[in-house]
Amino acid sequence: MATVTLRNIHKSYGDNEVIKGVDLDIDDREFVVFVGPSGCGKSTLLRMIAGLEDITAGELLVDGERMNEVPPDKRGLAMVFQTYALYPHMSVAENMAFSLRLAGMSKAKRWERAKEVARTLQLEPLLDRKPKALSGGQRQRVAIGRALVRNPRVFLFDEPLSNLDAALRVQMRLELSSLHDSLQSTMIYVTHDQVEAMTLADKIVVLQGGVVEQVGSPLELYHHPNNLFVAGFIGSPKMNFLPVMTTGVQDSGTNVRLPGDAVVTVPVQPKMLMVGDRATLGIRPEHLRIDANNPTVMGEVLVVERLGGETYLYVKIAGGDTFIVQADGDSRAKVRDHVPIYIDGHLCHLFNADGLAVPQAERHHLTLSTPEVSQTQASHQTYAQHPQSSQTD
Ligand SMILES: Nc1ncnc2c1ncn2[C@@H]1O[C@H](COP(=O)(O)OP(=O)(O)OP(=O)(O)O)[C@@H](O)[C@H]1O
Ligand SMILES: [Mg+2]
Repeated sequence: MATVTLRNIHKSYGDNEVIKGVDLDIDDREFVVFVGPSGCGKSTLLRMIAGLEDITAGELLVDGERMNEVPPDKRGLAMVFQTYALYPHMSVAENMAFSLRLAGMSKAKRWERAKEVARTLQLEPLLDRKPKALSGGQRQRVAIGRALVRNPRVFLFDEPLSNLDAALRVQMRLELSSLHDSLQSTMIYVTHDQVEAMTLADKIVVLQGGVVEQVGSPLELYHHPNNLFVAGFIGSPKMNFLPVMTTGVQDSGTNVRLPGDAVVTVPVQPKMLMVGDRATLGIRPEHLRIDANNPTVMGEVLVVERLGGETYLYVKIAGGDTFIVQADGDSRAKVRDHVPIYIDGHLCHLFNADGLAVPQAERHHLTLSTPEVSQTQASHQTYAQHPQSSQTD
C-alpha cells in the first residue's frame, strides 16, 4: 500500500523557481507518468519525491505521512536512473545485493533475494557476469533489479529507457508493464516520449515550465486536451492546428471559417465563442481523410512518408498552413498531387484565443464519460457515429 500526495510543491534554485506549485494525488498501485518538454521540471519533481532534492515549499506525503524531512533511504522508495551506473567490478548478483548489504542483511538472505528478483527479471543465467559482459537492455534490467530487491513502496523511474535502441525500448516497455502488473506497486515514471507515456500510464501528468498543464488517463488527454499545449504534446504525429474565425453559433455547434474560406461546424457548447472571435481548430492526422466525394479543403502534397501500415502526407492547404494527413499504407498520393481533404467537425477540437479548449457539446461529452462503459468502448461508440470510410485517392 503506497499513496503519494504532493501539496503545493515548489522548488527554487536561488531566484529561479523551477517547480511552481504542483498538487497531485497518486493512488496505491497506480502507474503515473510525468511528461513534458526538456527542462519542464520532471526530474526535479521526481528527485524531490525521492529525497535527493530539498522541497522549497509545500508538502510531500507517502501513505499520508509527511516525508519532507525524512532522508531518502528511510522513505521506502527506490529510484532507477537513465544512466544505470552499475559497479563494474561487481557481478550482477553483487550489484543487486549491494544495497541489502548496506542495510545489514545477512549474506544468505541477500543472495536469496537477489536470485528471486533475477528470476522475475529473467536475469538468472547472468548472475555471475560483470556489467561489461551485458547488453544495454540487460544492464538496465540489473538497475531495475537493484531497485526491486529493496521491496520499495514506490518505484521512481527517470527516463530509464532513453539509452536503449528503438527495439529494446519497446521490449523493455512491455517488460515494465508486466512487472507493474505482477508487483502491483506504485510507480512514478518520467519520460519525454509521449508514446511511452500513453502505453505505460494509468495516469499522465503533463508538465510545462514547472506547472501541471493537465492530469488524466491517456485517452482522456487524447480525447479531451484542456489546452493547445496538451493537444499538441499528446499524440503522434501531433495534432494539426489552424487559425479560424467564428462565423456562427448554434445549439448544434459553432461554425468556424478556415483560412481558405471553407466552413466547419464543430459540436462544442454554444456561446463559448462569439461570432467574430478568433480561435484555433485542432484535428489529428488520423482523423483527416482524403475524400474526393466530400472535400472540405484542397491541399498540395509536399512530402510523403510511407511507413508501410500507414502513409503520412504533409499537405499545404489554402492559406499556406501545412496539415499532416494519415492515409492508407498503400496510398498512391505523391508529391505535388492536389488532394481533397475531408474535415469532420465531430472530430475537431476548438481552442479560444487564450489557447483553452472550448468544451465539447454535452452529447459528445456524455458518451465518453458514461461510467458503466469503459473508456475504450466509449471512444469506439463515439467514433461509430462518424465512421471513417475507406480512403480514396
Ligand atoms: N541543480 C540545479 N541548479 C540550478 N538549476 C537547476 C538544477 N537542476 C535543475 N535545474 C533547472 O531546473 C529546470 C528543470 O530541470 P529538470 O532536470 O527537472 O528538467 P527535466 O524536465 O527533467 O528535463 P529533461 O527532459 O531535459 O531531463 C531546468 O531549467 C534546469 O536547468
Ligand atoms: Mg530529466
